[in-house]
Amino acid sequence: MISRRHLLAAGAASLAVAPGAWAQQNPQSLRALAAAKGLVFGTAAASYELKDRDFTALLPRQAAQVVPEYEMKRGALEPKPGQYDFSALDKLFGFAARSGMSLRGHPLVWYTANPPWLAPALEARRDENLMTGHIRALMTRYRLASVDVVNEALMPPDSSQRGWRPSPWLKAFGPRYLDIAFAAARAANPATRLVYNDFGCEQGGPGNDRFRADTLKLLDGLLARNVPIDALGLQAHLTAFSNPVDQRKLRAFLEEVRARGLAVLVTELDVDDSGGPSDIAARDRAVADEARRFLDVVLDTPATRAVLTWNLSDRYVDPPDEWRLKLAGFRYRKTPYDAAMAPKPLWQALARAFAGRRAFY
Ligand code: XIL
Repeated sequence: MISRRHLLAAGAASLAVAPGAWAQQNPQSLRALAAAKGLVFGTAAASYELKDRDFTALLPRQAAQVVPEYEMKRGALEPKPGQYDFSALDKLFGFAARSGMSLRGHPLVWYTANPPWLAPALEARRDENLMTGHIRALMTRYRLASVDVVNEALMPPDSSQRGWRPSPWLKAFGPRYLDIAFAAARAANPATRLVYNDFGCEQGGPGNDRFRADTLKLLDGLLARNVPIDALGLQAHLTAFSNPVDQRKLRAFLEEVRARGLAVLVTELDVDDSGGPSDIAARDRAVADEARRFLDVVLDTPATRAVLTWNLSDRYVDPPDEWRLKLAGFRYRKTPYDAAMAPKPLWQALARAFAGRRAFY
């Protein structure tokens, strides 16, 4: 069991040298390159990966922040009402804290990945404590630099319907469930950056145009009601061989978000390479190019404060779901490092995008 002091001290590790000098001394560290431009670079990870020495050596050198890939989802944490099992999350966050990394939380309130008892309990009691108690439990146990208070509240961009995504929360409280969640999060820890996180604002298709408009409407509603939100999280699950990012539309959208006084975090960056050629070098190049087209725009605003990839290495993409690999017909190459822990063109794309960022700070 790790000590609570460690968990609460996360992110306290200070740099002995200025970020610029640190980056020059560490050109092989995404963490250092990002820090030199006022950015936090981080990644999703899971506790079972900590058994891997290659990984534990790489993780804190490359990433300044960790977000749990799934171990903070309520279905994983609270199998029976009120009976929390924090062991996996303590392991992951404990490692991060001891290694001088900050902690990012994901997600507090989501339509899915909940324990089976939750929806019936909400339906029967409509008790706000079923939400706020959970928010308090997590935010007082871990000192989170940022957290996805609500994840994916809108119908996805490829849906024929628009508006609120059905969820047990929506059913019990209506759209004001977001207001309740953000207020509880702010009350639990005023120092944590509170995020609304979703996917669909990044790319150029008609569904994405609609989704950007709906997202601005959602944000405007929250701001008009003085709901304590600090940032928009762009998941950034990009696709290398379909629906590319439209740089002009993305730039205009980010300007709208910034004009509302909100920060932007890239929370789950990866690049799906299905549908591409079998040649690995060509696939890796397409993945890197699409990420760079996205990053060039998203980093060109002072609103953007962090970039997190959804996993650091292809060794841990969708493991150990062999059926998924079979379904795709190949191993995905979505992340900065390959399965042998060697940096790929996506690593270079991130490094160059960070190094080339204008100095806003
Ligand atoms: C995914 C994880 O990667 C999987 O391991 C898990 O089984 C399901 O969730 N958007 C999100 C993330 O906000 O939580 C999802 O993560 C990916 C899409």
